[in-house]
Amino acid sequence: MRFKVTVLPGDGIGPEVTAEAVRVLQDVAAIDGYRFDFEEHAIGGAAIREFGSPLPTKTLDACLASDAVLLGAVGAPEYDRLPPNQRPEAGLLLLRRALGGYANLRPAISFKPIAACSPLRPEISDGADILIVRELLGGLYFGEPRGFAGANGSTVASNTMSYSVEEIERIARIAFVAARQRRGKVTSVDKANVLETSQLWRQTVTRVAQDYPDVTLDHLYVDACAMHLIANPRRFDVLLTENLFGDILSDEAAVIAGSLGMLASATIGGEVGLYEPVHGSAPDIVGQGIANPCGAIASAAMMLRHSANLEQEACDIELAIQHVLEAGYRTPDIAAGTGGYMATTSEIGELVCQAVTEIVDMRHAYHAV
Ligand code: NAD
Ligand code: IPM
Ligand code: MN
Repeated sequence: MRFKVTVLPGDGIGPEVTAEAVRVLQDVAAIDGYRFDFEEHAIGGAAIREFGSPLPTKTLDACLASDAVLLGAVGAPEYDRLPPNQRPEAGLLLLRRALGGYANLRPAISFKPIAACSPLRPEISDGADILIVRELLGGLYFGEPRGFAGANGSTVASNTMSYSVEEIERIARIAFVAARQRRGKVTSVDKANVLETSQLWRQTVTRVAQDYPDVTLDHLYVDACAMHLIANPRRFDVLLTENLFGDILSDEAAVIAGSLGMLASATIGGEVGLYEPVHGSAPDIVGQGIANPCGAIASAAMMLRHSANLEQEACDIELAIQHVLEAGYRTPDIAAGTGGYMATTSEIGELVCQAVTEIVDMRHAYHAV
C-alpha cells in the first residue's frame, strides 16, 4: 500500500511536533510493511517569508494531489498587525476551504497518568471522553460580507454569521453517526435564545435526529455549555457545534486532558483529509525542544484511521501514547503534580516509536499462539 502525505510544518512549534508525528508514521510503515510518501511544503508565516503568500499555489496543489495533509501550526507575533486576509491564519482557512472538509473532529479525553496536571479534581475528570464535532467551513470564519468600513474617522468592522440548512444537516449527520459508535448521545450547542443562525441550527439538528432514533439528543446554550464542560465533563459524549463555538470550547476542553498539547484533530468530509493538533504555534516555547508532540502524533493516528483505513495502526499509536505517559515521561506542560521524568519533544517521539514496536510485537506474538 502507498499513501501520500503532504506535511505542512508551518510556524513556531509546528515543525517541532510534526517531525515527531512523521517519525511515528515512518515507524508504523516500517513495522507493518506500508509505504508512506511524505512531501513537505510551506504554509503560514514560513510561506509568507519564502513565497510572499500564506498558502502558495505549489503548497495547495501538493495538498490537493495527496491522500492526506498533516499540519503543525500557523501564526507568529510578527504577522499580528497584518490585515486578516494576509495573515498566516488566512493560509490555513484557505486550505481548509479548498480541501472541503467541513467536519472537524476533536477528541477531548482525560488521560489517567497525567490526571494530576489538570486543574480539575480527578473525580471530576476521570473517565471523561468527549468527541467535539466542530463545523469548520461556515459561520463567522467565512461569512460575507466582512471587513472594515466607515467614514469621518469612525471605523466599523463587521463579520457575518450565516448557516444554511444543508450545512447544518451534513455536520449533524457526522455527529449522529459518530455517537452511534460511541455512547449514543449528542449534545448540540448553540445560542438559540439570541441568534437566528442558532435557531435554524437547533431546528435542523432536531429534525435530523429523527433519522437516528437510537441516539439521544439534548441541547445546551453555549454559555452554559462552557460551564458544564469543566464542571461535569462526563455528561458529554458527542458535542456538536458551529465553527467559532467549537474553536473556543475545544481549547477549554483541553483542561480535561491537562494540556492543549495533548489534543488532536481530524477534518473529514472533503476531498482530502486534514490532520492537525488543536494547539497553535506556541511562540512562548518555540525552539526549546519542550513542546508536547502528543497532539500532533495523535493527529497522525487519526489520519491513519480516517484517510488510510488503518484502524488497527491508529489504535496502536494511541495506545503507545498512553504507554509513554504510564511509564512516566513528561514534557513540562503535563508534568505538574504527576512525578515522572522530563523528556524533550524528540525523546517523546522516540519513546512513542518504541512503544508502537512493542505493541505490534505483542499483537503478533498473541496471534501466533
Ligand atoms: P497556542 O495554542 O499556540 O498556545 C497556548 C498556550 O498553550 C501557550 O502557553 C503554549 O505554550 C501552550 N501550548 C500550545 N501547544 C503546546 C504544546 N504542543 N506543548 C506545550 N505547550 C503548548 O495559542 P496562542 O498562543 O493563542 O496562539 C499562538 C499563535 O498560534 C497565534 O498566531 C494563533 O493564531 C496561532 N494558532 C494556530 C493554530 C493552528 O495552526 N491550527 C491554532 C491555534 C492558534
Ligand atoms: C484552530 C485555530 C484556528 C481556528 C486559527 C489558527 C485559524 O485556532 O485550529 O483551533 O480558529 O480554527
Ligand atoms: Mn483554536
